[in-house]
Amino acid sequence: MSGPAAGQSGRTAPELAGQVALITGAAHGQGRAAALALAREGVHIAALDVARPLAYPGYPMGSSADLDSLATECRALGVDCLTFAADVRDDPAVTAAVQSTADRFGRIDILFNNAGICGYSLAHELTDDAWNTMLDINLTGPWGPCRGPANPGRKANSTWPSLVLGRNLHLALPGPEDF
Ligand SMILES: NC(=O)c1ccc[n+]([C@@H]2O[C@H](COP(=O)([O-])OP(=O)(O)OC[C@H]3O[C@@H](n4cnc5c(N)ncnc54)[C@H](O)[C@@H]3O)[C@@H](O)[C@H]2O)c1
Repeated sequence: MSGPAAGQSGRTAPELAGQVALITGAAHGQGRAAALALAREGVHIAALDVARPLAYPGYPMGSSADLDSLATECRALGVDCLTFAADVRDDPAVTAAVQSTADRFGRIDILFNNAGICGYSLAHELTDDAWNTMLDINLTGPWGPCRGPANPGRKANSTWPSLVLGRNLHLALPGPEDF
């Protein structure tokens, strides 16, 4: 099956050009892939990522180097890219990132709440700390960018995401082999 035909510019969704996307968990994996796909369509990117190891779940997270290289790749595609090293559980940092994005671009059209972790554990082995960490990151985390005082949607005639996407439909899996 083939996707939509690309025009001369190589873009498949020209209506996105000039829009602004704020993506959490953008340094690595699907968040990064989404950032680059949108950048190819001419969308300016605000990329937020914890960019450091987390004690739980313990597997590698994105890094500052990943954020830097994402910004370089986005700029090479002709769009601007702001980067923020912030944990989605850190409300003031998330609010500051939303504010900086709104200040820089005057709009945020797409919010991709992608940052998240996947805990691998049998339910009876899952600790309360692990459970609460997943709730904080996967469930409460996506709320942060939406509610902050910097949210430009609080101002009249401002542009705040018409498209809000989330990626965390699960909390824990028994193990990678069950994924
Ligand atoms: N890969 C899959 O098949 C799949 C399936 C279902 C859901 N998901 C979910 O989709 C999301 C992306 O998946 P992926 O495979 O790209 O994961 P990934 O681990 O490759 O990337 C997740 C990114 O989020 C960042 N991040 C994690 N916790 C953060 C926090 N507290 N604050 C800010 N940034 C944080 C990481 O640094 C990393 O860059 C995850 O939430 C994952 O649980 C993935």
